[in-house]
Amino acid sequence: MSYMAQRVAGFGTTIFTEMTALANQHQAINLGQGFPDFAAPDFIKKAAVAAIEADVNQYAPANGRPALRQAIAQKTGTFYGIEANPDTEITILHGATEAIFATILGLVNPGDEVIVFEPFYDSYVPAIQMAGGIPRFYTLRPPEWQIDAAELATLFNANTKLIIINTPHNPTGKRFTQAELGQIAQLCQQHDVLAMTDEVYEHLVFDGKQHHTLANLPGMAERTVMISSLGKTFSVTGWKVGWTIAPPEITKAIFRAHQFMTFCGAAPLQEAAVTAVSQPTSFYTELTDFYARKRDFLLDALNSAGLTPIVPSGTYFVMVDISHLGFANDVAFCRYLTTEVGVAAIPPSAFYHNPADGAGLARFAFCKEEKTLAEAAKRLQRLKTG
Ligand SMILES: Cc1ncc(COP(=O)(O)O)c(C=O)c1O
Repeated sequence: MSYMAQRVAGFGTTIFTEMTALANQHQAINLGQGFPDFAAPDFIKKAAVAAIEADVNQYAPANGRPALRQAIAQKTGTFYGIEANPDTEITILHGATEAIFATILGLVNPGDEVIVFEPFYDSYVPAIQMAGGIPRFYTLRPPEWQIDAAELATLFNANTKLIIINTPHNPTGKRFTQAELGQIAQLCQQHDVLAMTDEVYEHLVFDGKQHHTLANLPGMAERTVMISSLGKTFSVTGWKVGWTIAPPEITKAIFRAHQFMTFCGAAPLQEAAVTAVSQPTSFYTELTDFYARKRDFLLDALNSAGLTPIVPSGTYFVMVDISHLGFANDVAFCRYLTTEVGVAAIPPSAFYHNPADGAGLARFAFCKEEKTLAEAAKRLQRLKTG
């Protein structure tokens, strides 16, 4: 007899675990998993040490330390002109992952439909399923990953409760345009649907473009949960400090789920997060430049190895079209790349409800040190002779 509950039995192991194990076994350069292999900024590490030494070591308030909620309100005002009340509209959670889960558990009833763009970040669908909701998928197609408003409209009906928008989008690097967000906003209002925007890559947008946030569109602040976290912006993916910004009634629903999941995140890291979130805007400009250089380096390396990268507008990922290379699918290509070429990438079929839709793609991460990317570039040349 299996002890495993039905609600988790179908989930399996994530593709990240599998590819990381294969990468380690073959000493491959790991451009699979999306975390930096370089040091986090000194100022944030010092702030965390100082918080621990100052004995900020007991439970934080369940909705987060007041100074952090205040700093997030301030930052959201500066970047987006959104005025969020730090007491009634902001909740600090254990990373964007808990924010996603608490939002879905707090808002979705069994039988409710949730619209998800695919390829999707891998925690959305299990969270919807654990809440008893039904995911409905909109497939973004390469190389533009554009949305067709008429096709999207067919997914909205009387059972639709929520739509999830991840912009900038992992794994495609797509940045939702103002026009696309406008179409989504119109459909949400027409069908009385809530929106959850996962904006963890909000500060990684390239080529002088701007990140647009759905909550800023007329009529949307009152039906949108904005989610972000420290991990990507401050190179501390292991800290798991995330937050939601939502109107008071929706915040209450998120809070009810959160209080019994984790109650609160790590107090000293929340204290250090105040220093992070209060950085001047020059910090964010430098961050974008830093990552743009890495993106361009990887794009060159992929092109010169004879691959076909799709230039990302944001995030720290590049999708590559591998459909013409003669592999059975993306998993076969990524296994070959890891074991024979010595570079690990992620097969994106795991991010589609119909894996065949991702079979012609591979995802590479460029949140890596120069020397890691240089070694990957050298090894990728082997593809030419392989
Ligand atoms: C789109 C997206 N959302 C959420 C997360 C998780 O963020 P956190 O580490 O803050 O839980 C990630 C991390 O990879 C992500 O890519």
